[in-house]
Amino acid sequence: MKNGSAAADHEDACARVAARFGERWLRIYAGRKLRSDPIFPAAYELFRGSDQPLVDLGCGVGLLAFYLRERNFRPLISGLDRDGRKIDRARAVARGAYRDLEFSAGDVNGPLAARGNIVLFDLLHYLPPQEQTSLLGRLAERVAPGGTLAIRDCPRDRSARFWLTNLAERFAQGTTWNLKVALHFPTREEIFAAFDEDKFSRTVAPLWGRTPFNNHLFIFRRLA
Ligand SMILES: C[S@@+](CC[C@H](N)C(=O)[O-])C[C@H]1O[C@@H](n2cnc3c(N)ncnc32)[C@H](O)[C@@H]1O
Repeated sequence: MKNGSAAADHEDACARVAARFGERWLRIYAGRKLRSDPIFPAAYELFRGSDQPLVDLGCGVGLLAFYLRERNFRPLISGLDRDGRKIDRARAVARGAYRDLEFSAGDVNGPLAARGNIVLFDLLHYLPPQEQTSLLGRLAERVAPGGTLAIRDCPRDRSARFWLTNLAERFAQGTTWNLKVALHFPTREEIFAAFDEDKFSRTVAPLWGRTPFNNHLFIFRRLA
């Protein structure tokens, strides 16, 4: 972030969101995550000019929604996560603090009611390959003309970054806060395959900031 005022706005938003969590460990986690993960300012830059609702699949404790609200992003944001403990925390923060945020406990393999811009950050690799293909196909159908689907994940490749991410994710599964399911990191090609190049603009770029991980941001925009 080059601009001093944008950096200050980012820092203020991180501090305000973290302070809203009731449990000390979550305040610490939220502050560290928001400040170290480049996905939050990247999502803000991506969606700040849009007035479409935003759907956050695998929203966790709602950090993205709160961060965007603190940066004055106004459209409705709907978060879905299958972990009811995280949804409870997200709802507790949202209550009385932010308007037009909805958090639901549910599985991305179930019905997806909402439409608008969609984000899928760090979720895909928790699904088996056939569920990934099915979800990406369903999401491709839901992106409206001019709408955007942003996916952040760690593509499976031969890089040292990939192996480090894989290792770190397995280590993180040792805590009670993370899902203990088999991990299936998709390749770039497997993600792209769901989005016909006649219908979507398709980009992918590294988004690892100062982390040693192999995170990439995939952006699919339906052509008008
Ligand atoms: C690594 S966390 C990412 C949280 C948030 N998107 C972020 O980037 O900070 C992955 C989230 O995906 C959720 N998740 C995994 N599989 C899911 C599924 N099948 N349906 C809904 N949520 C799922 C987990 O409960 C977890 O909160």
